[in-house]
Amino acid sequence: ASDMGDDLERVLLSEEQLQSRLDEIAAQIDTDYAGRDLLLVGVLKGAVMVMADLARRVRVPVAMDWMAVSSYGSGTKSSGVVRILKDLDTDLTGKHVIIVEDIIDSGLTLSWLLSNLRSRGPASVEIATMLRKPDAAKVEVPVRYVGFDIPNEFVVGYGLDYAERYRNLPFVGTLAPHVYGQ
Ligand code: PRP
Ligand code: MN
Ligand code: MG
Repeated sequence: ASDMGDDLERVLLSEEQLQSRLDEIAAQIDTDYAGRDLLLVGVLKGAVMVMADLARRVRVPVAMDWMAVSSYGSGTKSSGVVRILKDLDTDLTGKHVIIVEDIIDSGLTLSWLLSNLRSRGPASVEIATMLRKPDAAKVEVPVRYVGFDIPNEFVVGYGLDYAERYRNLPFVGTLAPHVYGQ
């Protein structure tokens, strides 16, 4: 479709809902990390929006770094095989780290990432995610900051893509079935 509006079924979380939840999470982070230096690690590409919006709300000093990982080991996302496509530039030794994600689906990406980053000698590692799908979890991941728990539906927007599209939507919506061929 040429108009993105035709591809969407409904808005699940409005721009206002997302942004006001980030106000709350940023305030919580300010409390939890008072007096500490914090490193926010965004997971490319989905986390770009939440990273930008969360980071600009936090008042404790933050550094930002990025990782790109691929969970498509042998065709399927659920393999749990994660490959680092772009590693951090930062040495994590002694650092307080929050991994920033757009969504936790099966949890396999973050489960792997968490143990990977923990092995690098940080002072602490926590997770912040805008969305989480409890019904899709294949592995339990300890998450400190969650924006919203959502149903196990295919969602796009606010960083989340379908075939690399829709990431730029400022809200989270469900995709009309005709888009993915049903
Ligand atoms: C998506 C999403 C999370 C991950 C969650 O990324 O942004 O990073 O999948 O899935 P999981 O909990 O089942 O592991 P994707 O691999 O699609 O890459 P992208 O961020 O570049 O879209
Ligand atoms: Mn991602
Ligand atoms: Mg994706």
